[in-house]
Amino acid sequence: MKVLIIGGGGREHALAWACARSERVAEVLVAPGNAGTAAEPRTRNVEVDALDVAALLQLARHERPALTIVGPEAPLVAGVVDLFESAGLRCFGPRQRNAQLEGSKAFAKEFLQRHGIATAAWRRFTAATYDAGWVSAQRAPLVVKASGLAAGKGVIIAASTQEADAAARAMFAGRFGEAGGQIVIEEYLPGEELSFIVMADGEHVLPLASSQDHKRLLDGDAGPNTGGMGAYSPAPVLTDALQARILREIIAPTIAGLAAEGMPYTGFLYAGLMIGPDGVPRVLEFNCRLGDPETQPLLARLRTDLTVLCEAALERRLHEVRAEWDERCALGVVLAAAGYPDAVRTGDAIEGLEQAARLPGKLFHAATRRAADGRVLTSGGRVLCAVGLGAGVAEAQGEAYALAASVHFAGEQYRRDIGHRALARASTQRPPRAPITASR
Ligand code: AMP
Ligand code: GLY
Repeated sequence: MKVLIIGGGGREHALAWACARSERVAEVLVAPGNAGTAAEPRTRNVEVDALDVAALLQLARHERPALTIVGPEAPLVAGVVDLFESAGLRCFGPRQRNAQLEGSKAFAKEFLQRHGIATAAWRRFTAATYDAGWVSAQRAPLVVKASGLAAGKGVIIAASTQEADAAARAMFAGRFGEAGGQIVIEEYLPGEELSFIVMADGEHVLPLASSQDHKRLLDGDAGPNTGGMGAYSPAPVLTDALQARILREIIAPTIAGLAAEGMPYTGFLYAGLMIGPDGVPRVLEFNCRLGDPETQPLLARLRTDLTVLCEAALERRLHEVRAEWDERCALGVVLAAAGYPDAVRTGDAIEGLEQAARLPGKLFHAATRRAADGRVLTSGGRVLCAVGLGAGVAEAQGEAYALAASVHFAGEQYRRDIGHRALARASTQRPPRAPITASR
C-alpha cells in the first residue's frame, strides 16, 4: 500500500519512518516533508504545502494512497479530512468540526464545561466584552490564551493581574493576529503536566503509551514557552491508577460527549493535562493530533504497525487491536535554531549528519531542507530531534545526548536536562505494565 503523510516537521518524519517500516507499505509520500524524510528508504517528498488542502486533494486523487495520516493541526482545522472523505479517500484525523477542540480554546472550554470534565475556571472575552474589573479582582497568577491557533505560542502566564490585563490588551491589539480576537482567561493550575494521547474511532479509544514533554526553552523549566524542547516515554508520573482515572474522568466523557453531540471523533486526541497536588487530572487543552516532539520518542517505542492501527480506527474497530510497545524508555532532545522561539535564523548548515546516522538512536529532522549543493540547512525553529533508547531514563538520555552532540549548526540551542523529572522519580519506578488494550 501507499501511505501519504501530511506535514513536514519532526512529528511527520517520525510518522513517515514508522509507516515505511511496515511490511505492507510499498511507498510513503510526505507533503512536503523535510531533508530527513527525503533520505528515508521507500519515502518520497512531494512539494505540496501542508496547508493547501485543495492541492493535497489533487495529489491524493493522482497518487491514490490507501491511507493518509495528517500530522499538524492546521490542515485538520481547515477541513482536510472532510475533503478527502468526500472524495472517497481514507484519511486518519478528526473532521473539521472536531478539530475545533484545538482550533478554538473557547469551544473546548465550553465543551468541557457542558460535560462536567475538570478544567481550570475560566472566562472568555472579545475586545467588546472585555472586563478589566473582573481581571483585577482575580487572584494571580492568571493564564491568558488566544482562542485561535497560534502555533503553540498564544498562551501567556501572567504573574500579576496587571500583566494579565496587558496580555489581554496585546492580544486584542493583534499580537497573535486573528487567533487573539477572542481570548480565554483562566485560573493558573499548579502541578505536573502530562500529555495523554489516544487514538479514537468515534466510539472506542486506544491509549498510546504515556509521554511528557518539556515546554520551556531553558534548563530547569525556565525561560519562555516553546512548542516543546524534548520529550520522553513512558512518563513515570502516569501510574496505572492515574491512567484509569484519566480514561474514566476525561477521555471517556470526551469521546462519548462528542458522539452525543453528533460529531464522533476519529483521529489522535491529545489531552494536555495538569495533575494537581490533590492528584486530580484537569484538562489544560486538547490537541487534535499527535504531539511534537512527543511523537518522536513515542513512535520509537511502537512495535505494532501504525498503518494497522489507523485502519482499525477508520473501520471503528479499535477495540479489536492492541498496541505493543518497546519496554525501553525513549527520550528525544530537540535541537533548535538560533533565536527560537522568537525570530528564528534559518539557512545554517548542519554538520555531522553522516556520523549521526552511524550512532545508536534515531535523529529525526524537523525544520531542515536540502540545498541544491547537497548541504542540509536549517529552515525553521525546531530543527532536529535526537531520540535515544535505553533500559531506563538515564540510559535513554545518554544515547540521545550522544546523538545530539554528534551534529552541529551555528546557533544551535538545546536543553541539557530533558527527562529530569523522570530521573527524579526513577528510584520509585515500577516494572513496565502489560500491553494496553482498547476500551470502550
Ligand atoms: P496550552 O497551549 O493551553 O497547553 O498552554 C501551553 C502551556 O501553558 C501548557 O503546556 C502549560 O505549561 C501552560 N498552561 C496552560 N494553561 C495553564 C493553566 N491553566 N495553569 C497552568 N499552566 C497552564
Ligand atoms: N508538544 C506539545 C504539542 O505538540 O502541542
